[in-house]
Amino acid sequence: MTNSPTILVFDSGLGGLTVLREVVAARPDAHYVYVADDAFFPYGHHSEDEIIARVVPLMGELIGSHDPDLAVIACNTASTLVLSHLRAAYSLPFVGTVPAIKPACAQSKTRRVSVLGTKGTVKREYTKALIRDFAQGCEVTLVGSPELAALAEAELSGHPISDDAIRAELAPCFVGEEAGARTDTVVLACTHYPLLLDRLKKLAPWPVDWIDPAPAIARRVSDLLGAPTCAIAQSGAEMIFTSNRVHGLGATLTPFFGGRALA
Ligand code: DGL
Repeated sequence: MTNSPTILVFDSGLGGLTVLREVVAARPDAHYVYVADDAFFPYGHHSEDEIIARVVPLMGELIGSHDPDLAVIACNTASTLVLSHLRAAYSLPFVGTVPAIKPACAQSKTRRVSVLGTKGTVKREYTKALIRDFAQGCEVTLVGSPELAALAEAELSGHPISDDAIRAELAPCFVGEEAGARTDTVVLACTHYPLLLDRLKKLAPWPVDWIDPAPAIARRVSDLLGAPTCAIAQSGAEMIFTSNRVHGLGATLTPFFGGRALA
């Protein structure tokens, strides 16, 4: 790669921005295309067949128009389903976002871990296989949240959401009562949820470790691209909404893009 590489970051909406910001920090030399498939949001409410039929051809169109060097599927609901299809159909490298069950179980002291994701993600065979292979004797509670992704979108878009609405989605993650035997680790298995991390911490009935896979994804992207070969300190960025809506989120989005102005 002699020029600045192009990285395409894809999600159903604004959640993938939490992955983007880590990738941008790791690779300021890259050009970024962020695609929010908001015309089909939320993915968590669609069937597996619908998501495959939507994402695989859409990715083909995006590859055709942006010619990325690498694509990040910054969505657990999609990654747990479509990664193998994408890799079979297209030749560029894909980096997915899947529930960080292995590191969470490795670090839990009480051996009680909860996985907070969309209803789709917690139902996936892929997620169940991660638990079979990597639970390491932990009791893993799967919590499928119907609304938290939409609540995070609303909050980021300037529509404040109530503590009670968040608390209701969060409550099933907290299992057990005694300090030494209750949940001590929660996997953020939807890229929207780190957008609400401060609120989640505040509303949790007791302190836990929150596991966000974004830094690990950024390291993987950087390894795959290899060392930067160009001296450009910062390349450009663009954001695409599949609905073509006018988002009016300019200043809110800038920090996720490392301060870049959006084309
Ligand atoms: N951001 C997506 C994820 O990581 C899910 C949001 C949705 O339901 O579309 O799973």
